[in-house]
Amino acid sequence: MSGAEAGEPVAAEVEELKAQLVEHNHRYYVLDQPSIPDAEYDQLLRRLQQLEQLYPELKTDDSPTQRVGAEPAAAFESVEHLLPMLSLDNAFSDEELQAFVERIQSRLGDTRFPDITAEPKLDGIAVSLLYNDGKLERAATRGDGRRGENITSNVRTIESVPLSLRKNLAPRLEVRGEVVMSRSGFEKLNQSAREANDKVFANPRNAAAGSLRQLDSRVTASRPLQFMAYSIGYLEGGELAGSQFELLKLLGEAGFRINPLIERCDSLDSCRNYYERLLQLRDELDYDIDGLVYKVDSLLLQQRLGFVSRAPRWAIARKFPAQEKSTCLLGVDFQVGRTGAVTPVARLQPVSVGGVTVSNATLHNRDEIARLGVRIGDGVVIRRAGDVIPQVVSVSESGGGEEIEFPVNCPECNTPLEQAEGEVVTRCPAGLSCPAQQRESLEHFASRKALDIDGLGSKLVVQLVQAGLLRTPADIFRLEVEQISSLERMGEKSARNLCEAIEASRKTTLPRFVYALGIREVGEATAQALTSWFGDLQQLMQATEEQLLEVPDVGPVVASHIAAFFASESNREVIDELLQLGLYWPQPSGTENDALKGQTFVLTGSLEQMTREQATEQLQALGARVSGSVSAKTSILVAGAKAGSKLTKAEKLGVEIWTEDRLIECLEQHQ
Ligand code: IVH
Repeated sequence: MSGAEAGEPVAAEVEELKAQLVEHNHRYYVLDQPSIPDAEYDQLLRRLQQLEQLYPELKTDDSPTQRVGAEPAAAFESVEHLLPMLSLDNAFSDEELQAFVERIQSRLGDTRFPDITAEPKLDGIAVSLLYNDGKLERAATRGDGRRGENITSNVRTIESVPLSLRKNLAPRLEVRGEVVMSRSGFEKLNQSAREANDKVFANPRNAAAGSLRQLDSRVTASRPLQFMAYSIGYLEGGELAGSQFELLKLLGEAGFRINPLIERCDSLDSCRNYYERLLQLRDELDYDIDGLVYKVDSLLLQQRLGFVSRAPRWAIARKFPAQEKSTCLLGVDFQVGRTGAVTPVARLQPVSVGGVTVSNATLHNRDEIARLGVRIGDGVVIRRAGDVIPQVVSVSESGGGEEIEFPVNCPECNTPLEQAEGEVVTRCPAGLSCPAQQRESLEHFASRKALDIDGLGSKLVVQLVQAGLLRTPADIFRLEVEQISSLERMGEKSARNLCEAIEASRKTTLPRFVYALGIREVGEATAQALTSWFGDLQQLMQATEEQLLEVPDVGPVVASHIAAFFASESNREVIDELLQLGLYWPQPSGTENDALKGQTFVLTGSLEQMTREQATEQLQALGARVSGSVSAKTSILVAGAKAGSKLTKAEKLGVEIWTEDRLIECLEQHQ
């Protein structure tokens, strides 16, 4: 089909799509303020890909379609930096920071405090980006500071790297910054690597480095990398700003992601205070930082101060305590989780890692133990970061001790363990008759994102189970104050509070209830998707695997777990009992008004008189289904302003199309 000539309307549509996608990209990857659902973004991108395939002459290098990665390269070319990429000196204490400031004051012959910009020190890979007339020309690694490797085709796949600047700051401009991998992305990447028995990365930094050094940029494209700019290198055509702080602001306007935690400090105290605050924040961030960087704010003063050997005199790094430490593996416990998965947990010689004492770390599964080649008594490297459970990263010193033996039977109920073909997880198949799985399921049922029963934590669950008061989630709603207060360490008041919390939890929402059931692979998001699709519990319980597969984001594995869960007689009994015991949620559909039952709506474009969530809720309240994508099963497409490819598709399929006004009319009519 290629070779067709693009007429004006097509060229205009391509331009419009590009502009929309660049804008959405910027909002999503740079500003963290997405304005359309992912599925809609994908549709726009697909439409652009189609048009570019049909009319290749409309394809440009800075098109958002050009981030998917190119054919593998043979090797990386070595390139020379236009200005060397320097490193930083370190300060390890407040005194050393003070000495740094004093050195600057004496060199400048000025006793006033020089304003300082304080920035998180990102623990990633330094990258230089060269822009020629506002277009990305070359991306390179730091290498030895003078020469690096040309990694342009890989860096182009990172969405937060602008391919064209939003504001052309100079004819030729080198932007420097750090490529990091998010912690959550790193966890996911390693999780799938473990499942596929592939190489896992020790930390997000190594994962970022490994991802940037892929000869096949399609692999890089699949990795959750982001770029944050922190300075400029080479610049042609005059000054851009007077200070580091203003420069960063300009780079932000040009389309770069700038770390939001950057601040100006006007005294040593505010510098110290920044360090303390950042140290507190460190664990909450979704990317690793290994300290912070203090930089003299005035670019003029930076110039006057200059460099010494490989580092600037105007900047210094203040490092945080390391997040990786070595310690000794004392033993391994095996824990059985809610779904029966058996996880080996390392018992460690307690060690302080990044300011927190760690005495346990996960070893994930049997394969991970083999991969690490770890034995009892070995020296091991532990890594903890954020909320993530501490991990054993590697063996640092072999102690020649015993091999770790994975149990053959469940450590809790003695049932022989199973490992399904091709799966890395070893499971106890006993289900709720295994005390560990029973306990964990009850805890999950009461947890914050599920029924949120305040006060019903793990210790109390254990006590209640041991006292024979709790077996299934339904038993929770049969508990009485006297029974609870008779437990050890339980007063009358706490018992009463717990009963009140249980009472309050009877009124819940359907998504919470579905999540609380603890179906394998059904997290909050899936529970939400299932309930908005099926509208009520009965429909969901009766759904076949085929019907479940129609739900957005439900794949075959999840569908089979859901179907199996509801096929189980004992699960159905517990659900019945819960409903009889008074658990309920305001009915969004079915009972009062079924006016739109059986209709599947898709909302697209921007609505002006209500948000999409409001429209979805109101439609569901009338029994309609609201889906994310247009298919032959769509009954009505509501097209708001700037509707794009969904509208085109709906037109092709002959789907009925409504305006927002028509939707509102319909909603009002049925209310
Ligand atoms: S400025 C001449 N700012 O730290 C000063 N560097 O140890 C050059 N880094 O190679 C660097 N975050 O990769 C600067 N906010 C930040 C940084 C930062 C991380 C890295 C950078 C550099 C290394 C120096």
